[in-house]
Amino acid sequence: DKGEYRHYMLKEIFEQPGAINDTLAGTLGTDHVLTAILGPDAEARLGNIEHIHIVACGTSYHAGLVARYWIEGQVGIPCQVEVASEYRYRTVAVPANTLLITISQSGETADTLAALRFAAKGGYLATLAICNVAGSSLVREADWRLLTHAGPEIGVASTKAFTTQLVALLWLTTALLQSRSGNQAQVAANVAALRQLPELISRALELEPQITRLAERFANKHHTLFLGRGPHYPIAMEGALKLKEISYIHAEAYAAGELKHGPLALVDENMPVVSVAPSDSLLEKLRSNLEEVRARGGELITFACESIDQEGASPQDTLSLPEVADVISPVLYTIPLQMLSYHVALVKGTDVDKPRNLAKSVTVE
Ligand code: F6R
Repeated sequence: DKGEYRHYMLKEIFEQPGAINDTLAGTLGTDHVLTAILGPDAEARLGNIEHIHIVACGTSYHAGLVARYWIEGQVGIPCQVEVASEYRYRTVAVPANTLLITISQSGETADTLAALRFAAKGGYLATLAICNVAGSSLVREADWRLLTHAGPEIGVASTKAFTTQLVALLWLTTALLQSRSGNQAQVAANVAALRQLPELISRALELEPQITRLAERFANKHHTLFLGRGPHYPIAMEGALKLKEISYIHAEAYAAGELKHGPLALVDENMPVVSVAPSDSLLEKLRSNLEEVRARGGELITFACESIDQEGASPQDTLSLPEVADVISPVLYTIPLQMLSYHVALVKGTDVDKPRNLAKSVTVE
């Protein structure tokens, strides 16, 4: 039931603060994470992991890409992330003590399941499924499971499943950090940041009126570029995927530093460029990338932190988000991009909840 909402997608976007609360319920102590939810000997086994392979498709793959920044950045465990349809068909070098993580909303995606079944034959330390459906094949067949409690996701375009996957992955990063004698202050900081997320997301949802106005500007556009750096590069990828799948506008994401290596040639007044620009250590670098866009007459739309002075940018081109700890910023910046694709789809009159040619659960290979 869509209740007061016009589409399931919009309802599911607004359900995110609650979905994140539900996903975190029972997983956090005061300044630590409760690793026993993975199983009685989890803490010791987490400490033995030396490599991580993350395998998933589509939006779930983007969640994995964000997790690589967290896991390598905070824990120092080498982590590779790959789409399941590639991973399962190539010869993968699996170092000793590798954890395979599969991520899936449905738990029935054929390629992701095939990767898990391959790993179950041996050669891996353990397998973990991060999944939204408790009784799914993926959950039944993995050694460990972390359930996202997003509730049923009806809209084909994944929204609350994605942000709850990110929450589960940051929880896991924290569990890995806690299991080794590393930076325990960071463990406590992650726990505090996770607790703040629902409230911060509620504040980001208040941007809807501004995003509705912004969406009008996409009505007769055919292409869009999304830019980000660091963990916000996969968030830009997710923003581009959302826009193309529900509004049918061609959208591509680039790591902002790659702009001058080719895509800058595309930029003119018909090319909106959406940039994800939180106030982190990469902001100054990103700003010079954005100057390159502006200098070429590109229509620049920036999602930035409210406390940062946006020199030279006009207010209708910059949307401000609350100030936030770096580690959870990718979750927060996802929200306005979901909302943007939803409102652009409304302007275009497309079938938001059931985009053409797509299925909610991809059980074919
Ligand atoms: C995009 C989308 C898809 C899915 C992909 C994997 O909005 O929903 O890209 O993310 O088909 O599905 P799951 O997560 O069920 O394995």
